[in-house]
Amino acid sequence: MKKFLDLISEEMKNAFEAAGYDRELGKVTLSNRPDLCEYQCNGAMAGAKLYKKAPIMIAKDVAERCQESKIFQTVEAVNPGFLNLKLGNDFVADYLNRMVSEPKFGLDGPDKPCKIIVDYGGPNVAKPLHVGHLRSAIIGESIKRIARYAGHEVIGDIHMGDWGLQMGLIITELKERKPELVYFDECYEGAYPAQAPFTITELEEIYPAASAKSKEDAAYKERAMDATLKLQSGERGYRALWKHIMEVSVNDLKKNYHNLNVDFDLWKGESDVQDLIPGMVEYMKKEGYAYFSDGALVVDVKEDTDTREIPPCMILKSDGASLYNTTDLATIMDRMEKYHPDKLIYLTDKRQELYFEQVFRCARKTKLVSPETELLHIGFGTMNGKDGKPFKTREGGVMRLELLIKEINEEMYRKITDNREMDGQEAGETAQVVALSAIKYGDLSNQASKDYIFDIDKFTSFEGDTGPYILYTIVRIKSILAKIKEQGGCLEGVSLKEAKSGAEKALMLNLAGFHAMMEAAYLETAPHKVCAYIYELANAFNRFYHETKIIAEEDEEKKSGWVALLLLTRNILETCTNLLGFSAPERM
Ligand code: ARG
Repeated sequence: MKKFLDLISEEMKNAFEAAGYDRELGKVTLSNRPDLCEYQCNGAMAGAKLYKKAPIMIAKDVAERCQESKIFQTVEAVNPGFLNLKLGNDFVADYLNRMVSEPKFGLDGPDKPCKIIVDYGGPNVAKPLHVGHLRSAIIGESIKRIARYAGHEVIGDIHMGDWGLQMGLIITELKERKPELVYFDECYEGAYPAQAPFTITELEEIYPAASAKSKEDAAYKERAMDATLKLQSGERGYRALWKHIMEVSVNDLKKNYHNLNVDFDLWKGESDVQDLIPGMVEYMKKEGYAYFSDGALVVDVKEDTDTREIPPCMILKSDGASLYNTTDLATIMDRMEKYHPDKLIYLTDKRQELYFEQVFRCARKTKLVSPETELLHIGFGTMNGKDGKPFKTREGGVMRLELLIKEINEEMYRKITDNREMDGQEAGETAQVVALSAIKYGDLSNQASKDYIFDIDKFTSFEGDTGPYILYTIVRIKSILAKIKEQGGCLEGVSLKEAKSGAEKALMLNLAGFHAMMEAAYLETAPHKVCAYIYELANAFNRFYHETKIIAEEDEEKKSGWVALLLLTRNILETCTNLLGFSAPERM
């Protein structure tokens, strides 16, 4: 359905036209003086020059034409020439009732749905997840959900780092510890065991140990590089070990992402495109895009208009090894072939900005992507501790994701059990759900590109611009509705009535802004717009709630209108939290 503000602008434009002025002057905006009016139009001010007329004269002409309007309750021309608008209560109620009756609250789908691949998460297999991966997962998941809700076909791909030196390091360390394993017997020709020779806990200990050793011991590092090469050239035993590492890690990753309410359609990784690299390199050479420079194979990507240095994109190192970007280019090629996407979105730390600029330019220049396909890198800022420095453990180490989540869960548990009586199990489950909202909302409410301070006290607070506050509001609405039902009230077949108070009307106008917000959140790939919207909406609801005796209301007609208003508010809040990747508990 038509966006609320567009509908109002349309009416105002008609009035300008009817009064003999250019209709384009009739654009309506939200009021910046909510104490005076709900919306405003400044078109008369702009028209003054055009028509050589005092703006107030134009405004009065236009206001005159609005007397019969079914949309406006009042249109006031005020000095020096503003039009202050208030909407008809019946018009607003009708609009919201239409929203209730249509799927997705009447949000229009795109004329032509796009196919979008979102590349996010990006964990490195066998290395522990850290907070940087958390941001990628949280933001990417929300972007995926928003685009899907907007009506596009969206594929989420985790794009694991599963092919680099870390694999060689693990294999080397394993060989050191258990040289008797059959995987290291070059003469062995039988089948390998189905069971991995390590658990996830061991694996998580092996990698850091190996990584530390390789930094101190050059010969060890040499062996790890050799193992990596052997793995990549297909040595049977090493491949079998690699499969075990993948299986054990992916199982663990799935559990971790599941706890974060993040899910991927594709569990692909760097390893999946390795076979495509030789062909791609050949093509780049043959077409004359790639050339040798100091032994390395590179593609120039700088442009005349550059104001900063953009180094060439390196495709192969002088020893013939491929790089992070070689894999990314091959992945682009693979995605184009398999899915023909209209858009590729990548979520990483913004320190990879230049990197993606090079990769994208290279992909365009070498025609790995079609010219119509949009390539977008969303670089996010750093999550800092209260001291303004990258988030660390209390001991000063890199903060592991699991630890961070555990800390917040505990804090939330404490808050929940402090405030009310709840049995231990329910409190534990509720704490988890609310803690997730604290983490995700704390992250998503900031513009992605900005650094932000991870403040546990602030994020877990039930008041202010936080996830728990939003959930608390949803739970409050649910509990009012449950009480009304308990008293025999009906929650079905109800419709919204004309607003009876300023607070009620303000809430209704907030709800009517849903479509415009969704459109902006999608077009600007900006989950923070969803956060800002539900924060306002929750505030508007709570103001209404505090001055209205809903449950005690005796006028059934009035009460049923409020039930409808509560239902719509709850549904929109829950739809939005779902777009952000978290949900409300039954009680809290
Ligand atoms: N594994 C990478 C890292 O930890 C992130 C991968 C991002 N995606 C990509 N297509 N390069 O930094």
